[in-house]
Amino acid sequence: MKRVRVLERVVGVIVFIGVVCGILALCGVFKKSVTPTFDEDSNNATNATTLRPANCSAIAPGKRLIAYWNSEMSGCESLPAGVTHVVFSSALVASDGTVGTTFQSSDDATNACIAALHKRCMYVFAGIRSSNTTDIINASPAVLVDGVTNLFNKFDFDGIAIHDESDKTSNYTTDGALAYMTALSSALQPLNASLIYDALMFEADPVTCLERKCFPAGMEALVDWVNVYAFDAAKDEADAAVIYSAALSDNGIFSEWATAMRNQTKVALVVTSAGGASWGPDLSNTTIANLTKYAETLGGTGIYTASNDMYTDYPIINLVLNTLDGFVSVHTAPPTQVPAPPKATKAQTVFCHSGISYSVKSGDTAFSIVTSICKKTTKTKCSRDGIWLYRTNSLDLCPSDLATGDKVTVCCGVN
Ligand SMILES: *[C@@H]1O[C@H](CO)[C@@H](O)[C@H](O)[C@H]1NC(C)=O
Ligand SMILES: *[C@@H]1O[C@H](CO)[C@@H](O)[C@H](O)[C@H]1NC(C)=O
Ligand SMILES: *[C@@H]1O[C@H](CO)[C@@H](O)[C@H](O)[C@H]1NC(C)=O
Ligand SMILES: *[C@@H]1O[C@H](CO)[C@@H](O)[C@H](O)[C@H]1NC(C)=O
Ligand SMILES: *[C@@H]1O[C@H](CO)[C@@H](O)[C@H](O)[C@H]1NC(C)=O
Ligand SMILES: *[C@@H]1O[C@H](CO)[C@@H](O)[C@H](O)[C@H]1NC(C)=O
Ligand SMILES: *[C@@H]1O[C@H](CO)[C@@H](O)[C@H](O)[C@H]1NC(C)=O
Ligand SMILES: *[C@@H]1O[C@H](CO)[C@@H](O)[C@H](O)[C@H]1NC(C)=O
Ligand SMILES: *[C@@H]1O[C@H](CO)[C@@H](O)[C@H](O)[C@H]1NC(C)=O
Repeated sequence: MKRVRVLERVVGVIVFIGVVCGILALCGVFKKSVTPTFDEDSNNATNATTLRPANCSAIAPGKRLIAYWNSEMSGCESLPAGVTHVVFSSALVASDGTVGTTFQSSDDATNACIAALHKRCMYVFAGIRSSNTTDIINASPAVLVDGVTNLFNKFDFDGIAIHDESDKTSNYTTDGALAYMTALSSALQPLNASLIYDALMFEADPVTCLERKCFPAGMEALVDWVNVYAFDAAKDEADAAVIYSAALSDNGIFSEWATAMRNQTKVALVVTSAGGASWGPDLSNTTIANLTKYAETLGGTGIYTASNDMYTDYPIINLVLNTLDGFVSVHTAPPTQVPAPPKATKAQTVFCHSGISYSVKSGDTAFSIVTSICKKTTKTKCSRDGIWLYRTNSLDLCPSDLATGDKVTVCCGVN
């Protein structure tokens, strides 16, 4: 029971930090290689303690900067200083409700990532989503609780973020969501672990929500906060600008969220990095800056996804940090000096824990390749967000000019 190591939390922080540093140094987590891959580090930290040091600073709700990280990507240790929470995605719920206890890379890689982020005082959450849209809502709450408990026995997470994509066309009901969230909340409380719920932008509006899914009254008491996906609200760029501006107004949807949560600090707003939006356009820089400022008066800002932002050296995380100006040094100072994390560069576009080599055949396109190699039942875009490929020799991502015989490397995530 890794989670219930009360003793270790109370025992001197010096001993703990010493142990973690020793393990990390031994494993070469911070080695300065251009493309470090955790898989190469025979880690053996599987049962090492990787808790967030007890004397890391507390984070004020408005200062949360929540980075979604796709676990098939290595390089999480390169997240910029200033990130306060990381959602490590995903532990997958299967159609029988069981929760996977591995992520999209090896357990050693997962542990190394958790340890590296904790050492930098970031909280690490397990992202929980389902293989199919309905698997979470269809699951027995008791089975979900068992699975999440196993996850906590295995890894030193600080909490979970539930991502339930069901809606009224796929068995979502407010009662069903409340039932499993009540069970999870009860299970997590004794572990001092946090419970986060991902929500669509208009779930808190009593009229608009009827089109898809409505946020259940009572959920606000079960969660530490909601991550409201503040994107995918319009398909068209011009419509989107109007909707996001309106959302920020006095009676806009975000003020409705503050009311629904009965506490504005329990509302975090999630913005996109390149490719983050699945339906509408990615958010403009102005919208991201406006949302970040607003979210500072609420429960903070999230980035979907930070692993994607890494490709181009974190422009969106830096935009958010610049907008929040000044909070970096105040709120995330680690308890001890931490070696500078490797910087993301173009060469790190190959950051895939287990890339699959493939030789392009006549008629192949990037999307047809990822669909077949990653064994997807429906067509999947090559999006750099969960599932993607790159030309092996040039590192071009999702190229549109693939020729027969080109060598590509495919990275299968969870989308
Ligand atoms: C945290 O622990 C480290 C190592 O023991 C110590 O040097 C540092 O002063 C502590 N920081 C705080 C804020 O207590
Ligand atoms: C961990 O250490 C044990 C014992 O030293 C060894 O047998 C095992 O292969 C190691 N595992 C890895 C992943 O290096
Ligand atoms: C890790 O787990 C193994 C097997 O459960 C145990 O023998 C070993 O002592 C543990 N190591 C540490 C450092 O806890
Ligand atoms: C998801 O649904 C499809 C179609 O219903 C099914 O073939 C597949 O096995 C499901 N996947 C999982 C992991 O349950
Ligand atoms: C909805 O729930 C019913 C009853 O449990 C089940 O038969 C059906 O397959 C579910 N639908 C989906 C889309 O999961
Ligand atoms: C939870 O937090 C309380 C209060 O800080 C502490 O007494 C308790 O030991 C913690 N429990 C665990 C399992 O860490
Ligand atoms: C951003 O905020 C500024 C200042 O309040 C406002 O003029 C502008 O219209 C906003 N833009 C968007 C896209 O929300
Ligand atoms: C709102 O929630 C925060 C934690 O996010 C808590 O510290 C604060 O006391 C709450 N405020 C009220 C009025 O309940
Ligand atoms: C958005 O902001 C980032 C970070 O400041 C910058 O790198 C990027 O060029 C900006 N994008 C646009 C379209 O202005």
